[in-house]
Amino acid sequence: DDTEAEARIAAAREQLGDRLVILGHHYQRQEVFQFADFSGDSLKLSRQAADSSAEYIVFCGVHFMAEVADILSRPEQVSILPDLGAGCSMADMANLANVERAWRELLEVLEPDEQVTPVTYINSAADLKAFCGRHGGIVCTSSNAQRVLDWSFSRREKVLFFPDQHLGRNTGYDMGISLDEMVEWDFDQPMGGLTPDQIRKARVILWKGFCSVHQMFKPEHIDRFKERFPETKVISHPESSFEVCQKSDHVGSTEVIIRTVRDSEPGTRWLVGTELNLVNRLHEQFQHEGKSVHFMSPTVCMCSTMFRIDPQHLAWTLENLAEGNVVNRIKVPETEAEQARLALERMLEVSP
Ligand code: 13P
Ligand code: SF4
Repeated sequence: DDTEAEARIAAAREQLGDRLVILGHHYQRQEVFQFADFSGDSLKLSRQAADSSAEYIVFCGVHFMAEVADILSRPEQVSILPDLGAGCSMADMANLANVERAWRELLEVLEPDEQVTPVTYINSAADLKAFCGRHGGIVCTSSNAQRVLDWSFSRREKVLFFPDQHLGRNTGYDMGISLDEMVEWDFDQPMGGLTPDQIRKARVILWKGFCSVHQMFKPEHIDRFKERFPETKVISHPESSFEVCQKSDHVGSTEVIIRTVRDSEPGTRWLVGTELNLVNRLHEQFQHEGKSVHFMSPTVCMCSTMFRIDPQHLAWTLENLAEGNVVNRIKVPETEAEQARLALERMLEVSP
């Protein structure tokens, strides 16, 4: 049971001392999250991994996060994901073959002086970050997407943004790019299902990926809730749809969501469009200030892959490390890591 696993985690952790650092994403369940030495959004955790000197970086999050930790840490450090099944369904919506095909097809249509910057959301496999590194591109997270797009547009006139269409669209729109200047690239169709003219006119070409958790939030959920409680403040993650973000008072990364709720007036009622474990934690944390924090969707939707990291897997991982066995190591091949690092370092340089 969890209590037994939690005692095993505490004992192994004690034994490993400062050879170990546990990083925990905000979407982790509380039974695991309580053991994180550092928590954060994707940007903050990438920096934590880059700055850590621990021998073992155990990532309580999903696969691409452990890959980033491996890429940004030193070669002798070991990045570990307690359950190898903890992937990200959005990251899986773009793969190297599809992106390379899109790239070739785009370049065929454009004039030689028209150029495109590939921008990958950090929620993507390491080989796509390497693709961006090779082609003058960059990585972004939900907390620096605007700065990354500014950087991209200062160099080239177009952006190919993958895999999350919503983060791309919401960010582009906030920067003053109209919806007409953003087109969706349907990777199941030749030429993304677009005409050469549509491609030439577009400024942002959006990959048709999405997060299965955030796509559950609908504008009518906000309307219905506000009918009951008109004074409600709404905050959403930018992986939510354009319509939901337009109806929200604030849009931001998990870290921004936490900060905004924390800094709000006592007594504020919040409707939050992001993963359930974070929303529940916010409610617990701030209810003593009279703040009430509600989940946006009437149906329960959790990130099922984040949920795969449980106390049992964490205990098993740490006990093995304490005995000198490295399990579930995430190691990106060196050439790929080098190219991906270029794109990640460009991102870190332009980030606040
Ligand atoms: P952030 O924590 O960076 O906002 O990202 C949310 C997310 O979907 C992680 O997979
Ligand atoms: Fe991926 Fe969505 Fe889960 Fe984040 S919440 S890890 S984007 S599936």
